[in-house]
Amino acid sequence: MQIYKVGGAVRDRLLGKPVTDIDWVVVGATTEEMLAKGFRPVGADFPVFLHPKSGEEYALARTERKSGRGYGGFTFHASPEVTLEEDLIRRDLTINAMAEDDQQNLTDPFHGQRDLEARLLRHVSPAFAEDPLRVLRVARFAARYTGLGFTVAPETLELMRQLSESGELEALTAERSWKEISRALMEDQPQVFIEVLRECGALKVLMPEVDALFGVPQPEAHHPEIDTGVHTLSVLEQAARHKQPLTVRWACLLHDLGKGLTPEEEWPRHNAHEHKGLKLIKAVNERFKAPKDCQELALLVGEYHTHGHRALELKPSTLLELLQSFDVYRRPQRFEEFIAACEMDARGRKGLEQRSYPQADYLRGAANAARTVAVQPLLEKGFKGPELGEAIKRERLKALKAYKDAASA
Ligand code: CTP
Repeated sequence: MQIYKVGGAVRDRLLGKPVTDIDWVVVGATTEEMLAKGFRPVGADFPVFLHPKSGEEYALARTERKSGRGYGGFTFHASPEVTLEEDLIRRDLTINAMAEDDQQNLTDPFHGQRDLEARLLRHVSPAFAEDPLRVLRVARFAARYTGLGFTVAPETLELMRQLSESGELEALTAERSWKEISRALMEDQPQVFIEVLRECGALKVLMPEVDALFGVPQPEAHHPEIDTGVHTLSVLEQAARHKQPLTVRWACLLHDLGKGLTPEEEWPRHNAHEHKGLKLIKAVNERFKAPKDCQELALLVGEYHTHGHRALELKPSTLLELLQSFDVYRRPQRFEEFIAACEMDARGRKGLEQRSYPQADYLRGAANAARTVAVQPLLEKGFKGPELGEAIKRERLKALKAYKDAASA
């Protein structure tokens, strides 16, 4: 049997990037031989094994035939006769379809190295279409490598467009899609992921609520970029620039969905878009089964981001309601993430990227003021049950009034 390093490990070494995961392909071996060498099978019918010591993935060279719609609609054909080239041709991109032996001799039948130099994300063959998830993968690679000058080859974009129009994307499972989306959002330039999906028509299928924001105007006074889609991408860009976690990035992407529902005659104003957007945010959250912390933050940011921007003008009672909604007493981190998302929203506007955001410290101070209210003295005064709750609220309100007065003095 011959063993080759394949995929991302070869690509990233040639790009001079750190290699974390190594995938191997094994040519000329049978399942029985692999088992005899101590490899552990990954799944029952799947020709992939884990190395007994390193735990790295070793896949038997295989050809893949499509047998049905969507993921799961694959049959694998692995046998000792399958050649390296036959294995490589079924892979997604030329830059991912190179193999390397233990002497670092490169097998590159589809000119991945040339495309690396030309900075092109190009599909290997029509077999690309066998896995619609690749539309998301290419967009994710575009987000990752855009800083190096990579773009999607026009013919690949065209194929992605056909796949998006074919209805195949709808067959992707929430889990597979979320894995790509969440990884893409954590790249340095996640806005490129959304741009590429939009360009090939996949955004309209996957997140029509986000797609609908393009072409929707906002008031120029607050939004010099005017277009809501452009604004959303800038907010995401800021979130990445400021190294925000996934929860914040997800919330940034979805915060203005309500603006896509405004009747044209009300443009460029978007009355109550915060509240109107909630059902859309919920739908996108559920479509991809986003993790609970992402879902929660997206909904809270959607509902309250305007409160964040107006923090300094809010009445103490409204401030208190905001803090209660976030349960800042038990969930301080989530409130910090809300503040961060608001700040990214404020900066994701043309020419305002460097603006200061005094609301952030003001909100932190307000949360601290409310938190300083001690419960013990109220218990000692004999408050119990709902009355205790009311008493705590009254004290917090007092603390917030004092805080606001001190801040504006
Ligand atoms: N691959 C593919 N189609 C897919 C998934 C994977 O063709 N839908 C192939 C590609 O050759 C890819 C390799 O399998 O390079 C390994 O896949 P994976 O580990 O998911 O990605 P990497 O390319 O290693 O990239 P990353 O750095 O994002 O992990």
